[in-house]
Amino acid sequence: MDTLYAALIGYLLGSIPFGLLLTRFAGLGDVRNIGSGNIGATNVLRTGNKRLAAFTLLGDLAKGLAAVLIARALFDQPDLMPQAAYGPVPVAALAAVLGHCFPVWLGFKGGKGVATNAGVCFGLAWPLGLTYAIVWLAILGGLRISSLAGMAAVVCAAIAASILDYEPFVPVLALIAVLVLWLHRANIGRLVKGEEPRVGAKK
Ligand code: G3P
Repeated sequence: MDTLYAALIGYLLGSIPFGLLLTRFAGLGDVRNIGSGNIGATNVLRTGNKRLAAFTLLGDLAKGLAAVLIARALFDQPDLMPQAAYGPVPVAALAAVLGHCFPVWLGFKGGKGVATNAGVCFGLAWPLGLTYAIVWLAILGGLRISSLAGMAAVVCAAIAASILDYEPFVPVLALIAVLVLWLHRANIGRLVKGEEPRVGAKK
């Protein structure tokens, strides 16, 4: 039952569409009609409002972090590593990303999960969050291609979980990596053709 509650809390938190809400409140219309149509920070940045994009990034990250920390506080022993890959904490992590990518409020058409998964990784174990942030920022800073940076970070976090012996988190992070890559299939197509826009460029 705890796992079910953790999933529900994770999903509900993850499904808060910060990018959509913030752009609407700022009077910029529906972010889904701009650029890639995604509700994430990269696309919010295409409205030209950097502050809004930063808040979207923080909001999407915070909800992933909150989902894991709440599950940890309510349903697990906060100071111990969860033992089961299917326990409340890993399930809340997956549910938060699923909530972001498939929010019931938006007809199950949401974002691509990169920022939410960053929060999830920091919540699961700080070395995983740190790995995520370093890979993400290094590629973003070097190449200014958000999708590539995000996909690399997601994959590296799953690999880091395995190398650093966070075994209970490996299945969930691997599943999230597959999901995030699949949601980026259009980006991958553009990357292969050399047509993926760089951060700051209008699409
Ligand atoms: O986090 C989303 C990013 O990886 C890609 O966004 O709008 O360029 O498809 P976008």
